[in-house]
Amino acid sequence: MTPPVSVEHAERLRRAVELAREAGALLRTGLGAAGPIEHKGAIDLVTDYDVRSERLLVEGLRRSFPEDPILAEEGGGAAGPRRWVIDPLDGTTNFAHGLPHFSISIAYAEDQAVRLGVVYDPMRDEMFEAREGAGARLNGQPLHVSAVSDLGRSLLVTGFPYDIRTNPETNLESFSRFALRSVGVRRFGSAALDLAYVACGRFDGYWELRLSPWDWAAGLLLVKEAGGRVTRVDGGEDVFRPPTSILATNGRIHNAMMEVLGESDA
Ligand code: IPD
Ligand code: CA
Ligand code: CA
Repeated sequence: MTPPVSVEHAERLRRAVELAREAGALLRTGLGAAGPIEHKGAIDLVTDYDVRSERLLVEGLRRSFPEDPILAEEGGGAAGPRRWVIDPLDGTTNFAHGLPHFSISIAYAEDQAVRLGVVYDPMRDEMFEAREGAGARLNGQPLHVSAVSDLGRSLLVTGFPYDIRTNPETNLESFSRFALRSVGVRRFGSAALDLAYVACGRFDGYWELRLSPWDWAAGLLLVKEAGGRVTRVDGGEDVFRPPTSILATNGRIHNAMMEVLGESDA
């Protein structure tokens, strides 16, 4: 007899957590000793540890769920509606510079819906996990977004796309506007952790342009299951349509952030 879907997803989540810990242990050994750094683009780096972490995760998932398609950042892969979506090292620039702020992000999506998500910070041993309809947790404790409803009292976070030098559409102007109208804007360098931090209330809002699915898939579910809201930066719900831009908030400051993002710089 086929097990119910929720049991299958619970088993997938359990395994994803286990593998994220294993990959995290590997990445910890590489911090400060990342080895050769290659450039995928002018400022887009990749290390041996991105590749080794991905191999560990992909092989582990293939052994446990041989039927499941996998999309992973360094190796590409499945484009279908049902698949694992993996970032084996989110925050490579930090990692390559010995900065202890990076993560592993693993999601499982079906039919444009993320069913489960794991974001693990191996340096702080913080395991963020969520399953659709079952809430979000940090090291086993339920998570909630913040209750701040005033943009002027909000702490925000963002990131900059790797094509910032060549693509005229940037978030530099919106960065300036938010810096003047919030408590502050941070740039920490791991989109998956930025989203996890919105989920647990450390940040009140996050936005970023031109993300890849592995950057946001797990974090999106964390924010939603923690009671927050996730849309495109213009408020559109179709976040799966590339190129993805993300606005993720505690829900209360969502419209205020959308208004600032919609302002023209002219
Ligand atoms: C990057 C990080 C960064 C974000 C970039 C991402 P990577 O992922 O999440 O915070 O600003 O848009 O591409 O390359 O370190 O996996
Ligand atoms: Ca990433
Ligand atoms: Ca990565």
